[in-house]
Amino acid sequence: MASPHPTEIGYADYLRLDQVLNAQDLQSAKVGREAHDEMLFIIIHQTYELWFKQILHEIDRIQANFAHETIDDWRMGQILHSALRVNEILKLLVRQIDVLETMTPQDFLEFRDLLTSGSGFQSLQFRLVETRLGLSPEHRLLYDGTGVHSRLKAEESALLTEAENRPSLVEQLDTWLSRTPFVKAGSFAFSEAYRKAVLDFLTKDIQTLRSNQGLNADQREAEALALEKAKTSFKALFDPEAHSDAWRMSPQAVQAALFITVYSDRPVLHVPSRIFQTLMDIDETMTLWRYRHALMVQRMIGVKIGTGGSSGHDYLRQTAEKHRIFSDLFHLSTYLIPRSALPALPADVERMMGYVYAEEPAE
Ligand code: HEM
Repeated sequence: MASPHPTEIGYADYLRLDQVLNAQDLQSAKVGREAHDEMLFIIIHQTYELWFKQILHEIDRIQANFAHETIDDWRMGQILHSALRVNEILKLLVRQIDVLETMTPQDFLEFRDLLTSGSGFQSLQFRLVETRLGLSPEHRLLYDGTGVHSRLKAEESALLTEAENRPSLVEQLDTWLSRTPFVKAGSFAFSEAYRKAVLDFLTKDIQTLRSNQGLNADQREAEALALEKAKTSFKALFDPEAHSDAWRMSPQAVQAALFITVYSDRPVLHVPSRIFQTLMDIDETMTLWRYRHALMVQRMIGVKIGTGGSSGHDYLRQTAEKHRIFSDLFHLSTYLIPRSALPALPADVERMMGYVYAEEPAE
């Protein structure tokens, strides 16, 4: 039975410093040519792994809250709080690259050969973060024709498979958004009202563009074509028959996300829209990390292949573009219109979305 009284514990025991501070095993010292910067290299990687652990801990809480049938306000608050924390940690992880870059490429060469095939490519926790947020196996780049599992140990690969088989955060977001009330309430159908408003707006944009003399004819045509494409992909959102690869989330979820985004000034939508902003921040900060890491790799090893066997810089730069997770939320901006052009909400929907303080009737 657990003791009701806490046992006396000192700082070093509480933090298990005997283990943490003795976990820096310099390979260069083992072969009798100690490289000063290998300590930095190990500590940086260890701190990354500790922060990945904390990020996964926050994702646990976010996903447990999203798994509920109904998500109360306090759960939404917790989701937002954890997501904000994840983003702050990621910002720190981008900054850590500055510290590592105080190591010169030549300092790195002092011990690089000792890493053999060891590479960040084998970080299980990094793969779990990506997977649990929503990077699915079919959206991953194959870096040498094999998947990420090939570089993991059997027991790690099993853990990653388990995560791949569970709903990711993007999928949970989809399920939750698909249940959003207000999008269709009584006689009000947001989809019809908004569809018309956006299509009118995009048509006007295309007309303005075609008459823009500041661009040459080719530029005007290319831009107009992009807008026409956006129009088609938007129309597909409201047509269950027309499947569009441009979206990862279901049409219902994207419609609800649009609704929350455009009416985000209504009190009941504040927290959901802040969650969207934070998920986009997370996507952006992870992308920044990928770019910074790719640049650092180019600076350290030029065009050499990585110790994990990939094309190095080139592969990493591509992941920054292709491994985006919440791209649908970014994509929504194409379909925003000025507040003044928004369809008016019926009074009953407005009432449902407001915080109403009703005074006790006078006796
Ligand atoms: C001198 C510093 C570093 C160099 C030269 C370097 C190099 C590389 C290279 C070349 C790759 C591609 C896979 C391969 O072929 O090995 C890679 C992947 C990776 N590295 Fe680093 N890295 C460095 C520091 C770090 C640090 C500090 C972290 C922090 C954990 C890290 C995490 C990762 C991760 C997670 C991947 C997989 C990325 C993906 O597949 O999207 N690396 N690294």
